Amino acid sequence: MKGIVLAGGSGSRLYPLTRIMCKQLLPVYDKPMISYPLATLMQGGIRDICIISTPKDLPVLQSFLGSGTELGLTLTYVVQPRPEGIAQAFLLAEEFIAGQPVTLILGDNIFYGDYFYGDGGFSRAVREFEDGGLIFGYYVSNPQDFGVIEFDAHGRTIGIEEKPRAPKSSYAVPGLYVYGDDVTAVCRQLRPSPRGELEITDINRAYLERGQLRVERLGRGIAWLDTGTPSSLQEANAFIEAIEKRQGLKIACLEEIAHHQGFIDREHLARLVEGLPRCDYRAYLERLLAQSR
Ligand code: DAU
Repeated sequence: MKGIVLAGGSGSRLYPLTRIMCKQLLPVYDKPMISYPLATLMQGGIRDICIISTPKDLPVLQSFLGSGTELGLTLTYVVQPRPEGIAQAFLLAEEFIAGQPVTLILGDNIFYGDYFYGDGGFSRAVREFEDGGLIFGYYVSNPQDFGVIEFDAHGRTIGIEEKPRAPKSSYAVPGLYVYGDDVTAVCRQLRPSPRGELEITDINRAYLERGQLRVERLGRGIAWLDTGTPSSLQEANAFIEAIEKRQGLKIACLEEIAHHQGFIDREHLARLVEGLPRCDYRAYLERLLAQSR
C-alpha cells in the first residue's frame, strides 16, 4: 500500500498566518501540522509516501521531512501547480502509485484514538484491503461543511454529497481514503465540478455506483479534527496539549512511531535522538529508549 499526503491549497482561511508560512508546517501544539497525517499513514504500516504541495511550499516541506530514510520511510515529492481538486492527487502521483492500492490523507486532518494504534483498527483495514474504496464516516455537528453520507434504513450507504445544504445524515467523510489500484483510471473519468475541481466525493460516488465502496463508521472514542481555520486550529492545539499533558505520551511523534512500527531499530532511534537539540521532545524520546532496554 502506498500513501499520499495532500498538503497544498492556498491556506486562505488561515490568512495572514499563511502569508509566508506553509499551512501544513504551522504548529499544532508541539509539532508541525503535517506530522499528524504522516503519523496516521505510518500507523497504518505505510512507508512509501508521496507528499503533494504547491510550487512554493513543496521545497519547504521537503527541507523539513527530507528523504524519509531517518524514519525508515521513502518519501517522494510532487508539485500541484494549481489547487484543482483533492482527486487530482491521483493523476499527479500516477507514476508514484504505479498501479498499486493507495491511501490518501489530507494534510490538515488529525486522527486520534485506539483505532489508529496497534495491529487492529486502521492498520488491519490497510493490511486486509483488496480493492474498491474504503472511506470513513464520522458523526459531526456541522455535516454541511463536509462530504456527507446517506444511509438507508439498514445502515447501507446509498449516497454521498459534497457540502449539501440539507445533509441527509450527520456522518461526514473525513479526509482519509483508501482505494484500489484502479483509482487513477476512475479519476480520469471525472469532470471538474462547477467550482472547477476534481472532487474526491465524485471518486467515492463512482465506487459506490459500482457497489465497491465500503464505509467504516468511526466511533465516539475517536477524535477527528481538522485544522483549516483559526478556530479549528486552536481547538486542535488545545486537544493535543490536554491529552499529551495528561498521559505524558506524545501524539504523532514520528520517531516513536517509526520505531514502534519496526521501520527503524533501537540503535537507529538512539542515533536520531543524539542528533536532536536538548529539549522536551528529545527528553521524551530518551525516556522511551530507556524504557525499551
Ligand atoms: O476534511 C474532510 C473534507 O475535505 C471532506 O469531508 C470533503 O468531502 C472534502 O471535499 C474536503 O473538504 P474541504 O472543504 O476541507 O476541502 P479543502 O478544499 O479545504 O481541501 C482540504 C485540504 O486539501 C486542504 O488542506 C488543502 C488541500 N488541497 C485541496 C485542494 C482542493 C490541496 O492540497 N489541493 C487541492 O487542489
